[in-house]
Amino acid sequence: MNIVMLSPGFPYEQAFFTRALAETGAQVIGVGDQPRSMLPSEARGSLAHYEHVSLSDERAVLAALKGLSRHVRIDRVECLWEPYVVLAARIREHLGLPGMSVEHATWFRDKEKMKQVLDEAGIRTPRHESARAGAEVWEAAERIGFPLIVKPIAGAGSADTYRVDSAEELAEVQTMIRHVPLVSVEEFIDGEEFTYDTVCGNGEVLFENVSWYLPRPLQARSHEWISPVTMVLRDKEDPRLAGGIAMGREVLKALDFTEGFTHMEWYLKADGEVVFGEIGARPPGARTVDIMNYATDADLFRTWALAITTGTAPPLTHRFNAATMFKRAQGTGRITRVSGLERLMADLGQHVCVLDLLPVGAPRRDWRATLLSDGMIIYRHPDLDEALRIGDRFARELQLYAG
Ligand SMILES: Nc1ncnc2c1ncn2[C@@H]1O[C@H](COP(=O)(O)OP(=O)(O)O)[C@@H](O)[C@H]1O
Ligand SMILES: [Mg+2]
Repeated sequence: MNIVMLSPGFPYEQAFFTRALAETGAQVIGVGDQPRSMLPSEARGSLAHYEHVSLSDERAVLAALKGLSRHVRIDRVECLWEPYVVLAARIREHLGLPGMSVEHATWFRDKEKMKQVLDEAGIRTPRHESARAGAEVWEAAERIGFPLIVKPIAGAGSADTYRVDSAEELAEVQTMIRHVPLVSVEEFIDGEEFTYDTVCGNGEVLFENVSWYLPRPLQARSHEWISPVTMVLRDKEDPRLAGGIAMGREVLKALDFTEGFTHMEWYLKADGEVVFGEIGARPPGARTVDIMNYATDADLFRTWALAITTGTAPPLTHRFNAATMFKRAQGTGRITRVSGLERLMADLGQHVCVLDLLPVGAPRRDWRATLLSDGMIIYRHPDLDEALRIGDRFARELQLYAG
């Protein structure tokens, strides 16, 4: 089987998906922005061929693949990176290949279309409208009411996303979103935030995962002192999760998703109501596939590769709650000091899977631009309360300083 993989080396996870695909015996043809020499070795060593072409130049990509398809038979086109999921569909249409069409892929990319399809299927979405900045946003706000959320129609990482509680705030936000061509105005849903992630093959859900965001991503992105956590949950039978998992399965049916990775977000209100958030036809980012692996002691890269090449994959069991925590240093400039680490590792080291902090002397990262921030810890525990306690201690006692 000859499979085209868009962006086989970026972001981080892609190289591992690329390698897993090659390990199934498939011939993997990479297409991406990075020069071949800059690809991570896991990707470079797994590619039968690489086309170096700018993914933002759709015409160039289509031309390159058309040319390629005269020499080799291309069976599939895969893309696990959000910005180019629709480009992958366009290539499929261009070459007459099976898989998601452009319209279908757009349901996973355009937050307004996505919710329209789900509304028709009777799934509870926040009240929503798409609007251009200016008069249309005012009109949408009038119909939806405060508090509301304004966000890009095809955003990611909570960028340009605002909670708006009043007309005064909306006036301010209007000036901040002027550069965003089309926004989604939504009813603000107060509640906790979870994910429902899957790997599907041949129309079946082969793997399900629920993660819990602590705190909600918009809060994590708004306050620098927070150490955001994504916690993969071991116990999918927890009654608190039943509504979200049931919704997740319905959403996949409504969107007619049959193979590949999905990443959905959903809200749980205090009164128990479950509300849809968003869905992508790709895995979650920010090392979440890694924590799924630590939670299951398995290899989700391989699960995905088997699912799309054979339609099936061995079942996996969650044995741990596994979490990523991202740390932000205090101060600006370069990291000068790390405190609390020795005691934490002496007490909790047995539960820590990965510790990846910026070294002293390294410049701070931009915590608004990258969730990765100044350091990352992955830890796991079979008991959720214990996993939460470990997180509390790393949040409070581990401090990075910059100056
Ligand atoms: N309707 C909403 N009600 C409450 N919070 C929201 C709503 N829409 C977005 N948010 C907050 O903003 C974050 C980012 O929005 P989301 O739709 O997930 O976009 P993306 O993750 O693609 O940036 C969410 O995780 C959530 O914290
Ligand atoms: Mg989101």
